[in-house]
Amino acid sequence: MKVPIRAGIVGTGFAAELHADALARCRDAKLEMVCGIENLDRFCEQWGVERRTDNYKELCKDPDVDVVIVCTPTFIHRPVVAAAAEAGKDIICEKPLATKLEDARAMVKAAAAAGVKLMYAEDWCFSPILKRVEEIVAEGAVGDILYVKAKEVHSGSHSEYAKKLEYCGGGALFHIGCHPINWVRHLIGKEVVEVVGKTSGGGKSNMVHKDYEGEDWGVALFTFEHGAQGLVEGNYITLGGMDDTVEIYGTKGALKVELSQGSPIHVYSRVGYEYSVEKADNQLGWTRPAVDERWQLGYPTEIEYFIGCLRDNTEPMVGVRGEDGLASMEIAFAAYESMRTGKTIRMKDFRSS
Ligand SMILES: NC(=O)c1ccc[n+]([C@@H]2O[C@H](COP(=O)([O-])OP(=O)(O)OC[C@H]3O[C@@H](n4cnc5c(N)ncnc54)[C@H](O)[C@@H]3O)[C@@H](O)[C@H]2O)c1
Repeated sequence: MKVPIRAGIVGTGFAAELHADALARCRDAKLEMVCGIENLDRFCEQWGVERRTDNYKELCKDPDVDVVIVCTPTFIHRPVVAAAAEAGKDIICEKPLATKLEDARAMVKAAAAAGVKLMYAEDWCFSPILKRVEEIVAEGAVGDILYVKAKEVHSGSHSEYAKKLEYCGGGALFHIGCHPINWVRHLIGKEVVEVVGKTSGGGKSNMVHKDYEGEDWGVALFTFEHGAQGLVEGNYITLGGMDDTVEIYGTKGALKVELSQGSPIHVYSRVGYEYSVEKADNQLGWTRPAVDERWQLGYPTEIEYFIGCLRDNTEPMVGVRGEDGLASMEIAFAAYESMRTGKTIRMKDFRSS
């Protein structure tokens, strides 16, 4: 495809900002058009975009839009993906892929039928820090991986949509635990065969957020076909800023990563300052401000990669295809099924049920 590749973003909220920033840093991309139903003019002015609409179908059909970036709340991923596929446009879709497995399956099918790429925007797969981890592991530094423990946790979503299951599909395990679930799958590169889950239950059973229908704490323990174990956590009960971590234990070594709180800068302040890390509510005492948080978490490298796939007409790697978004959803939903039934869930049976 000819460069610059012209992107159309649907949505003007938190994720849309991340993608607009990543596109601005990408030499072969241009943010051509934005669709929004609120803050549209402010968003377009901030990112220097002239063309705007409040109708995503119009953006999808626009002849000057090459790729549609879906940054709407999760329950509005499916209709936007369907419109983009129908218009023959390649798609980058935010996580989680959908709120329901049937929607995710339909989205993967629609993209395949239309012959367009459906790329799953899982930024952990592009984090330069985690890429370095993957290189070290591939070199054999920790031997064969036996166990990976990973989490994304913070104090609660900024988006009102995250409170209702109808809009977001699940609680913390589904909504933010999808990052570590997908990255652990991507790292290990094998099938998950069994899942066990435990959550705070949602609503009144939650530890802190009684107004969230989904759980505010959840873990999924999963076993890969060759026996390695993955333990993933997503929670909204963590104060002090978003705390994403990874631990890898292998036959010849171990590795630990502080993805969001590992800044080389240590600040002590009695009066505070403006921003340290995502979701931190103050900057008092000792804090560790991120240097380029968006880079650290992988958003610019994600867009660089997807734009490269379109420019060179190459298929996205395992971990960031629509199918991978679907597989991550299956693991989270299997964990919910395990919580509901008190049983270990066999993925083969779960998928065919
Ligand atoms: N990869 C990440 O790290 C990351 C971070 C945050 C959010 N997300 C994902 O991105 C998606 C959006 O989340 P968010 O945090 O930006 O939410 P948000 O509430 O901040 O923004 C959602 C945006 O979608 C817009 N919108 C809603 N309906 C629309 C429609 N019909 N047409 C056009 N725009 C519409 C809203 O006006 C709003 O601007 C979710 O799926 C979320 O899970 C991913």
